[in-house]
Amino acid sequence: MPFQRDPQFVSRTSEIAQADVMLSSETRCERVAIIGFGGVGKTQIALEFAHQLRERQPDCSVFWIPVTSIERMLEAYLEIGQQLQIPNLEQEKADVQKLVRRRLSQESSGRWLLVFNNADDIDIWTDKVDMTAGLGRRIDYMPKSKHGSILFTTRSRKAATKLAGKNVVLVGEMDETTAKDLLKKSLIDQDLLTDDGAATDLLQNSPISPLQLSKQLHTLMRTKSPYLSIQRFSTMQSRILSSSLARNLRMTGDITT
Ligand SMILES: Nc1ncnc2c1ncn2[C@@H]1O[C@H](COP(=O)(O)OP(=O)(O)OP(=O)(O)O)[C@@H](O)[C@H]1O
Ligand SMILES: [Mg+2]
Repeated sequence: MPFQRDPQFVSRTSEIAQADVMLSSETRCERVAIIGFGGVGKTQIALEFAHQLRERQPDCSVFWIPVTSIERMLEAYLEIGQQLQIPNLEQEKADVQKLVRRRLSQESSGRWLLVFNNADDIDIWTDKVDMTAGLGRRIDYMPKSKHGSILFTTRSRKAATKLAGKNVVLVGEMDETTAKDLLKKSLIDQDLLTDDGAATDLLQNSPISPLQLSKQLHTLMRTKSPYLSIQRFSTMQSRILSSSLARNLRMTGDITT
């Protein structure tokens, strides 16, 4: 696994539980896609899911494949092949994807989870490419085993449906409790969140998402005001908001004073 847990991570419990039910229950689905808008937290959910799975089943291997480009994907396949000590990987004509698929599809490979992260571009999966056995589509080259599961994260509903059918976990904005938890974690000293009403107001009146808000707050604390409370941050935000709103309205000439 490529990443450490983020200390500021707040658990998206319900999304993680949904993925878990789909991937682990008796009538389990082999492939599940986490879908949602850019930046909403899909990759973080996949990462946390993988960490939790490893805690429960330390013998389960987790492989992480970024699908931001074909090159990145093939590089990751090569690394997996090396970890699995598959012979003949480095040969010029070796079809690494096929070798990895074959190995993971064997029962002797044990339990595994494969995460295809940021699988937004459906063409990567459906274009016909030159495989050793002739032309093939990457979507048909995925490993399959009763001990293996595949998790995708994607912004594209089309890709999700192609890759995982109906097995999708939809990620929306955070609920209020999770968002407050996140704001609290963004504070250097968590006792600075004394005013729950201010946090509620901030979240309800902000035009940006809780994730963006918490980032702003965190950056501000690190660079300028380490002892900023949510209440003060909230006041600052509403000032900024009302002045930019007023400016916009003035610019469009909608208001006369
Ligand atoms: N549950 C969370 N707790 C704390 N921070 C989070 C959480 N989810 C997301 N973030 C923050 O938001 C950023 C964006 O999240 P993430 O990369 O998971 O989004 P994404 O949906 O995968 O976006 P993209 O579609 O661009 O890949 C992360 O780098 C992280 O800082
Ligand atoms: Mg992502």
